[in-house]
Amino acid sequence: MIKITIVSTKGGVGKTTLTANIGGILADFGYRVLLIDADPQPTLSSYYPLKVRAQHGLTQLMISASAAQVISQTRIDNLDIVLSDDPQGKLRDWIRDTVDGRVRLKYSLTQVAAQYDFVLMDTQGAVGPLQDAAVAAADFMVSPIPPEILSAREFVRGTVAMIQRLEPMARLGAPIGPLRGVIYRQDRTVDARRIADELRKEAFLPSKGAITILNTVIPNAVAYREAATHKMPVHRFDRSRKGQAPSALETMQALAQELIPHLPNLAASALAHEARP
Ligand SMILES: Nc1ncnc2c1ncn2[C@@H]1O[C@H](COP(=O)(O)OP(=O)(O)OP(=O)(O)O)[C@@H](O)[C@H]1O
Ligand SMILES: [Mg+2]
Repeated sequence: MIKITIVSTKGGVGKTTLTANIGGILADFGYRVLLIDADPQPTLSSYYPLKVRAQHGLTQLMISASAAQVISQTRIDNLDIVLSDDPQGKLRDWIRDTVDGRVRLKYSLTQVAAQYDFVLMDTQGAVGPLQDAAVAAADFMVSPIPPEILSAREFVRGTVAMIQRLEPMARLGAPIGPLRGVIYRQDRTVDARRIADELRKEAFLPSKGAITILNTVIPNAVAYREAATHKMPVHRFDRSRKGQAPSALETMQALAQELIPHLPNLAASALAHEARP
């Protein structure tokens, strides 16, 4: 089971959309995927329609360290979710006041290791105990980065600080994994490659190699918003290329392959029927 946490030290950059769509394409490739909504604002929880709604959600998973009655099923085959059930943000205080609070999620997830190939955790765009717990539970992290040089620099500063602050978690058996940055919402007018190169230069040394920037770039495209409105993974919604622009199917396929390079070739023919071009 591979555990991935989608983080950023800033809000509104595309974390939830990215989490939902990576989960959607991996599930359509036949992998068993568990989404975890670790944002008190439950956007991921309502992203896809549910087939079966569990009685409990993340609070129960963390506090009882038991996976019973916490996993809901979406209407997408192979795609389950632990819903966010903490609108008042009480879980944050519980984690802070509990001796093993920040490693509890990591521990709780060992109970579902046999049931899933991937766990994808969405987080709030702000530093705090719940974000720490989700980062500590992950094998690696993914971060959407706005393609402007100032935001990109802020990304490097914020992310390096987060990784440094969490370094002592290694002594609690929860070493912090590497982070993959994805240039996100790129407009045709900006040169993503130049920004990526600059980011690589700025991030590599201060992060001691922990931050890498992926080659796949996610465009700023209306399909991502429309697919969310239709409660669908974007690769099902936008499957054919229009002129030069790659389809969301091609983009998400390339991203999945780059994130998890050892996956057998993710060819479109291997997709679930609903998602085939
Ligand atoms: N590739 C894209 N192209 C265009 N719009 C996008 C794209 N991805 C996401 N959006 C839109 O950007 C907005 C913010 O996205 P999202 O909710 O995923 O960000 P977030 O990082 O999860 O925000 P928050 O920090 O509030 O949780 C949404 O309205 C979403 O539909
Ligand atoms: Mg979000």
